[in-house]
Amino acid sequence: MDVVLSGIRPTGNLHLGNYFGALRNFTKMQHENNCYFFIADYHSLTTHPTPEHLQENVKQVLVEYLAAGLDPEVATIYVQSDLPETAELYLFLNMNAYKGELERVTTFKEKAKTQPNNINAGLLTYPTLMAADILIHRAHKVPVGKDQEQHLEMTRTFANRFNRLYKVDYFPEPVAYNFGEDLIKIPGLDGSGKMGKSEGEGNAIFLADEPAVIRKKVMRAVTDAGPQEMNAPKPDPIRNLFAIMEAVSSPDTVAYFDEKYNACQIRYGDMKKQLAEDIILFTEPLREKIKALSADDNYIRKVMEMGKEKAHQSGGRTVREVREIIGFRP
Ligand code: TYM
Repeated sequence: MDVVLSGIRPTGNLHLGNYFGALRNFTKMQHENNCYFFIADYHSLTTHPTPEHLQENVKQVLVEYLAAGLDPEVATIYVQSDLPETAELYLFLNMNAYKGELERVTTFKEKAKTQPNNINAGLLTYPTLMAADILIHRAHKVPVGKDQEQHLEMTRTFANRFNRLYKVDYFPEPVAYNFGEDLIKIPGLDGSGKMGKSEGEGNAIFLADEPAVIRKKVMRAVTDAGPQEMNAPKPDPIRNLFAIMEAVSSPDTVAYFDEKYNACQIRYGDMKKQLAEDIILFTEPLREKIKALSADDNYIRKVMEMGKEKAHQSGGRTVREVREIIGFRP
């Protein structure tokens, strides 16, 4: 049975990108595999959250995981810092991770540009921590969005390097996974390439957004003056809108607006209205479950305890074995 693992940083509410990139694939797979889904709270420390924010966000993300359909009785759902062995594996892997290769990682280069006053060591070694997350359960498949592809490549590098160095065949080579399909990237509403938490107000639709908020955000999405000739290629902001529609609307709806576009008859206002209603319909069951679960602190605590226990069984064993392979006293 494959080990499947994924995680999300608790830096705010989850958006449609998180859902389609990681969560949805995962919920589909949880019954056929040995699954781990965690909340990457160590990772979120690179941006120095306050203790209150950290706790609030961890709870919120856990609530949203459950609302999206992760089953704590089936998969192991846990908080990263409840498995502190992760930090030990991270330390071991860092001994064989090189400054040059870490500096070449795209996400690091981007962060270094956007937060020049906070280029900390955690940011540089983000891929080693992520590799530790994955390797600690010796995972085979990692459901993630397209933006995490390079991190998975690094994980394979670190896993192979460890195996070679100690002449063992211990860590498998994990792959980024989307149910056998191409990795997905949900674009933002601001015409930019990616839906994201830190890309500015109005770019992302959150799973917990109320219908009025969704309508407002979608109606404000960036478009253009409309196609000037039949069958014109779609410029980025328009392609983005269609990509979001493909994720939440029926194929017929997408085909209808595609035809209108190709015939130069599209009215973006109509398309946005339809898109907003389809997003509202799509997120409605999630929204209701989020509200109900948020009020149930006892249950949330129980889920965390259960996850901690299960994660420790698997992660504790790996770190014990790794210590022995490295040469520490058994
Ligand atoms: P994070 O928190 O930035 O995003 C969580 C997941 O959501 C996906 N995602 C998207 N997918 C499609 N379109 C988008 N617009 C979009 N935005 C976000 C991400 O690809 C990701 O799968 N490094 C990870 C967290 C992590 C992790 C791990 C993941 C830490 N350790 C181990 C898997 C395995 C991150 O920052 O994700």
